Amino acid sequence: MMIDTHCHLNFEDYNNLDDIINRMKENIIIVSGCDGRTNQDVLNLCNKYDNIYGCLGIHPESVDTATVQDLKFIEGNLNHPKIVAIGEIGLDYYWTKENKALQKEWFQSQIDLAKKYDKAIVVHSRDSIQDTYDMLKNSQVSKVDIHCFSSSLEMAEKFIKLGAKIGIGGVLTFKKSEKLKEVVKAIDLKHILLETDSPYLTPEPYRGQKNEPYNVYYVAQKIAEIKGETLENVLKETSKNAVIQFDLPIVL
Ligand code: NI
Repeated sequence: MMIDTHCHLNFEDYNNLDDIINRMKENIIIVSGCDGRTNQDVLNLCNKYDNIYGCLGIHPESVDTATVQDLKFIEGNLNHPKIVAIGEIGLDYYWTKENKALQKEWFQSQIDLAKKYDKAIVVHSRDSIQDTYDMLKNSQVSKVDIHCFSSSLEMAEKFIKLGAKIGIGGVLTFKKSEKLKEVVKAIDLKHILLETDSPYLTPEPYRGQKNEPYNVYYVAQKIAEIKGETLENVLKETSKNAVIQFDLPIVL
């Protein structure tokens, strides 16, 4: 069993969604929303496919256009049996620093929602790792997935101390990812979640093509190689981590 803990399967990105999801039929896919429209897509996918679970959230890049109704939609659907987390949410100062305060406001209100309903959160952090860390620490949330982790080993260890899991995707397979390889080598497998972030960040050997959840296999293979583990063990342990983290109703 493989679990892709983070991807986006929005209808406009793929014209062969059935095939892509079918390739993962023995496995689990967790899709993430980013805004009002994609959150609705997530619900539709959860309702249509047995092997899909979902996260609802307002991404930091979407906060300028997000509305109170969007937040109410998230809250109103947290009791859906296949909605397992709030995400993706977080801070992104790479695209814009102009709206830092608004990004923090949305991040905090969604963290608060997760705490209120005892849900996990899936966190996006780009050029904002210290602020992200400070907000998570102050909020005392522990069911956290730092998705597509790209910071230092020191930061990884600090997040792990908060109880967070480290999301590892296709970037690990890229040649210029020495820092991330060091992180993966140093931290225990029990802190790692597999992800693809499809349709982005396609792992080698398919880099350049559109990513899909099945490619989580190549991420697992790379982790096995770096850690000197068997592929089987990497898949088993990371699936176990995901089941616990997202409270998935799955018996492994
Ligand atoms: Ni994402």
